[in-house]
Amino acid sequence: MNIHMTTDNGSPQPLCLAATGPLTGDVTVPGDKSISHRAIMLGALAVGETRITGLLEGEDVLATAGAMRAMGAGIERLADGSWRVHGVGVGGLLQPAGALDMGNSGTSTRLLMGLIASHPITATFVGDASLSGRPMGRVITPLQMMGAAIAATPGAGRQTLPLTITGACPAIALRYRLPVASAQVKSAILLAGLNTPGETVVIEPIATRDHSERMLAGFGANLAVAETPEGRIITIRGEAELKPQDIIVPGDPSSAAFPMVAALIVPGSDIIIRNVGMNPTRAGLVRVLQAMGGRIDLRNERTVGGEPVADLHVRHSSLTGIEVPPGGAPSMIDEYPVLFVAAAFAQGRTIMRGIDELRVKESDRIAVMSQGLVACGVACEELPDGLIVDGRGGDPVAGGATVAACLDHRIAMSFAVLGLNAARPVIIDDARPISTSFPGFVPMICQLGATVRD
Ligand code: S3P
Repeated sequence: MNIHMTTDNGSPQPLCLAATGPLTGDVTVPGDKSISHRAIMLGALAVGETRITGLLEGEDVLATAGAMRAMGAGIERLADGSWRVHGVGVGGLLQPAGALDMGNSGTSTRLLMGLIASHPITATFVGDASLSGRPMGRVITPLQMMGAAIAATPGAGRQTLPLTITGACPAIALRYRLPVASAQVKSAILLAGLNTPGETVVIEPIATRDHSERMLAGFGANLAVAETPEGRIITIRGEAELKPQDIIVPGDPSSAAFPMVAALIVPGSDIIIRNVGMNPTRAGLVRVLQAMGGRIDLRNERTVGGEPVADLHVRHSSLTGIEVPPGGAPSMIDEYPVLFVAAAFAQGRTIMRGIDELRVKESDRIAVMSQGLVACGVACEELPDGLIVDGRGGDPVAGGATVAACLDHRIAMSFAVLGLNAARPVIIDDARPISTSFPGFVPMICQLGATVRD
């Protein structure tokens, strides 16, 4: 399987979707990206064989798999579509022979930096143009405090890829209060703490996705979480052996967000999205869309592999603009681009603040979405830390524009959804980034009744 992504892989692939009638039917979305990364990493550190069912086979996760292989783990896809991981044991990562190519994936980069920080090896990380502009200082600072030596490229006021990290062995246990609400930073420190003597402690004033904590506990790590007035305090005692697991990865709520908003905005739509992860630290978009009047019902709620899961019944709805509570931002941080699209079809104004983190994702998602929405005839105002969208009350947007995806999968899919209720075509200049997280996006949306325009 091709896991090399920084070289040119052909010419841009424009995409334009249309809906000639309601979206209907029953779909599933691919496995959760955050959980898939962690399953590969922890499987690669356990002693023995881990089985993973429902792994997301997107480029980002394959970049993680490629890196873990380069550091000694055995990782293979079986004929039935499940994955088998032979771990090297905590402390057992090997020196990779060449640079680790992370493609577009910030999660792979930051979490793997954490793992390497407490192993006696040196690794160089490289990535595509988008990843090479993203800030790495947020993980470099705590990992240096744990003893890792890190040389990054000085960017425009930030430390970026390419970077080289040499781990410390033994690393120094750390007590660290997160200055930014980031599950990637939290996870990098916890993963470094896995091979660090003593107790490594992360304090998060605002809760972020807790897949690392859940999965570390499942693999038998010595981990405790306390809810305190200071925030969540997560303590990991290092040098424990991880036991291999059978992991079932639920559908990704961040991918489900696209058919969900598509059904809400296309008149007459009535769909079911099956097997969607509903971890409360990830389900913020469903709560916000329901508050806007979105008809989204959770059915068959259950627990799969230690994560809450449900089937979502979504129907076309009259949405109303609201002020989105900024406190919920970490639980829906990747879903804002498609929420901006939903807001374009709401009656009145939707105000979204406290989301400056969107400016350092795969693209500056506030600027890129705002420019594309304006080009498609949607009135919106960019704020330093957010966006205000004046909705059209359900009427089709004008469309008739080509929008830039800027190497950002969620921008590409958001505008593809916008085009489903537009008077004139909305063309995405390059849809290739979609395969980082949702390789089957176009067939899935076509299965619901949308069509690809020439
Ligand atoms: C992720 C955490 C989030 C999210 C990213 C995946 C993770 O980033 O945006 O897509 O798997 O930990 P931050 O932790 O930087 O907010």
